[in-house]
Amino acid sequence: MDIESLMKRRRSARVYLPAPVKRADIEEIISCAGAAPSAINVQPWEYVVVYGDEKERLARRLLKVQSERRVNCGPGTATPLPDRYARRSREASVAMKPVTENMGLPMNQFVEEGSCVFYGAPVAIIVTIDQVFPKLRYLDIGLSVSYLLLAAEAKGLSTCPIGLVTAYGDEIREVLSIPDGKEVLLVIALGYADERAPINSLKTHRTELSEILTWYE
Ligand SMILES: Cc1cc2nc3c(=O)[nH]c(=O)nc-3n(C[C@H](O)[C@H](O)[C@H](O)COP(=O)(O)O)c2cc1C
Repeated sequence: MDIESLMKRRRSARVYLPAPVKRADIEEIISCAGAAPSAINVQPWEYVVVYGDEKERLARRLLKVQSERRVNCGPGTATPLPDRYARRSREASVAMKPVTENMGLPMNQFVEEGSCVFYGAPVAIIVTIDQVFPKLRYLDIGLSVSYLLLAAEAKGLSTCPIGLVTAYGDEIREVLSIPDGKEVLLVIALGYADERAPINSLKTHRTELSEILTWYE
């Protein structure tokens, strides 16, 4: 499949089959993530793959801290978002709500607890950056993660980037013995999506080109 079709087809999956993912496939996907461009080619991204019993151990720990601290799945900004951003985020919540309620869970609870257990995906990929880098280098990480998501899609695998649990970066570092100098930026759920789960057919809307593009000629 061509890259444009892959980009348009990709969507986040939030229910996974227990089917295992081959180690060689995971390595190829991370190798594609490593092919991304970065400023002066420093390649600041680092990936930690968590699988099997270790993944279950991490999920149990995150669910426990979530029940004690309750980070919510809002956009994480200190001030209210300007209207157009708030509208986009509201649209996504509105689209998810009936599906999760049909599953017997309020949307927030589904997202918050699901994020902590990586929506049952067999693989969780932790994305870290060495704290020697300034925040501007997060751009490089974003590019690398995009490559990763598309490489997974090309292999028939699904993903969900999970930012919520990075609030528990200390716990993630402790469970996985990630050194203090590394910041946990994102977790990515990876596996085969359960296509029968209605939440997985949710296709989020994208805004008109005219809202995101300014053209001078
Ligand atoms: C940086 C980042 C953090 C995200 N965090 C979460 C999360 O914590 N939980 C979740 O269910 N989805 C999370 N998502 C997935 C977004 O909700 C999703 O990408 C967005 O609604 C667009 O839908 P799509 O990926 O299906 O196109 C995150 C996505 C990104 C890029």
